[in-house]
Amino acid sequence: MPNADIILGVDVGASGIKGALVDSTKGILVSERIRLETPNPATPEAVAETFKELVTAFSWKKRIGVGFPSIIKKGTAYSAANIDKNWNGLNVKKFLEKSTELPVRVINDADAAGLAEMNYGHGKDMLGVVLLITIGSGLGSALFLDGKLLPNTEFGHVRMHGMIAEHYASSRIRKELNLDWEEWGKRFDEYLNYMDLLVNPDQIFLGGGISKHFDLFSPFLNVKTKLKPAKLRNNAGIIGAACFAHLD
Ligand code: BGC
Repeated sequence: MPNADIILGVDVGASGIKGALVDSTKGILVSERIRLETPNPATPEAVAETFKELVTAFSWKKRIGVGFPSIIKKGTAYSAANIDKNWNGLNVKKFLEKSTELPVRVINDADAAGLAEMNYGHGKDMLGVVLLITIGSGLGSALFLDGKLLPNTEFGHVRMHGMIAEHYASSRIRKELNLDWEEWGKRFDEYLNYMDLLVNPDQIFLGGGISKHFDLFSPFLNVKTKLKPAKLRNNAGIIGAACFAHLD
């Protein structure tokens, strides 16, 4: 009999749509991870098509948890910073349910990564204020007090040097401007110090693809708060989305 705790977790990103089957009570992947290119332009229709392809690749017929790069309230997207503007105001949950004919739960992608890290990573049983920053095409954030999430914080959108922070210190900017680790690391350190000043967390975790290169840029980080790359690294978004779908 299929295990009811197994859920398909999907992380929708600006460049890839990644999924895996997750044991949502243990927070571990129980299948291979499949990544499909995010269509360009990433209109709702095109993304739903790729999403369906991913679901079919797993022959999946049950609940799906989705991490989505937007403010998400009750399944609806309320921003579209790094995605096609047609997502703004759309009920992502209903849209993906219609295309797959399966139950879908949607949460902000950084909040998903944070939930995974707080439940199964370095944040397990951690009290106090914890801030997780995901570094990718954008900068995502997840804020916790005593393990409880304050959703949709959007700290990648604070202003620095007259622009939003993710236009100054994201992974995309590092690549676009061809910054070396020191140049980018100093920018990111400036961002972390700003967040530290505003939020005063007890611990900061870093997630997203770039966190695997932590050793290359950590020499340029001087923020005073305790800082660590997320334990679940790039799988945090997938695991967190599945866990959210399990609980919701
Ligand atoms: C979006 C956030 C998202 C972050 C990381 C930002 O541009 O506004 O909702 O969490 O990118 O994907």
